[in-house]
Amino acid sequence: MIVSENPAVALRTQFEIDVRTGLCHDGQKTLPSKYLYDALGSTLFEAISLLPQYGLTRAEERILRGCSRDLVRHLPGRVMVSELGSGNGRKTRRILQALAANEPVSYYPIEISRAALDACEAELGDMERVSIVSVEQEYLEGLATVAGVRPAGSHLLVLFLGSTIGNFAAGDDARFLREVRSFMERGDSLLLGADLLKTPERMIDAYDDPLGVTAAFNLNLLARINKELESDFNLRAFRHEARFNHVSSSIEMHLVSKTRQTVTFPQSGFAVAFNAQETILTETCHKYTRATLAELAAKSGFWVEAQWVDDKWSFAETLLRAS
Ligand code: TRP
Repeated sequence: MIVSENPAVALRTQFEIDVRTGLCHDGQKTLPSKYLYDALGSTLFEAISLLPQYGLTRAEERILRGCSRDLVRHLPGRVMVSELGSGNGRKTRRILQALAANEPVSYYPIEISRAALDACEAELGDMERVSIVSVEQEYLEGLATVAGVRPAGSHLLVLFLGSTIGNFAAGDDARFLREVRSFMERGDSLLLGADLLKTPERMIDAYDDPLGVTAAFNLNLLARINKELESDFNLRAFRHEARFNHVSSSIEMHLVSKTRQTVTFPQSGFAVAFNAQETILTETCHKYTRATLAELAAKSGFWVEAQWVDDKWSFAETLLRAS
């Protein structure tokens, strides 16, 4: 918490600091994508995952349904599972089911959202021979906790699904995986879900759907900021735009200011000026190939043990082994 000298703006939340930092500087304005997921944002994202144009979530569910038995054959003996960002836990059921068919398994979902952990416990709590231990921490802190309680002789399987790896800035994906690797032992496993490169038309359709659900999801970030920080973004003066950046092989989500305008934050004591067509970057989603995934693995201290790719929507589930 930062305490300002101006008593009118005495208490600052991390949210306010992040919004101000992202908007108040020269060059590309940004907002952290983790703030897209308030109650309405989370519901809109669930709707996105039902859109015919957004095949990512369904592709991963199909792969996990098909590969979980095969996956278990690649894992030795006593397995302890931990997941980075479990969400509601629905995708993980198949994996836990296949593992628990052999012997009891403990599952440590790591989440900063208590609501997601509750949903996950409710979703998976009925599974026999699966014990769930929720870890309410950031990913890496949580992994340190999990590494600290692992029984000797157990095999650690870390799950990192949903192509969240693609949301890191260029180069940070490998840095992050190296940190994950540092909490693992040689021979441990990481199951990594990653969306693969498709035609630009298909990718743009997935991130700018004709119903406008993704536009609403993106614009809701401004509504949330208005609600929580009492700012005056006019949502009708911004529009959603999805761009494919060929150089970085990433889809970029922007909010474009339709006109020259100023947005004020009277409670926080600042204002933000926008030129016409100036944008706020809210998310980048890197798209991989099988080759760039293998490179990423090698750079981060893993090798590719097995890989499953969906045939309707190119998405890869890759089993990495710590080298
Ligand atoms: N980051 C996720 C993805 O890469 C979620 C997502 C889907 C998203 N559509 C979005 C994030 C639009 C921001 C804006 O698919």
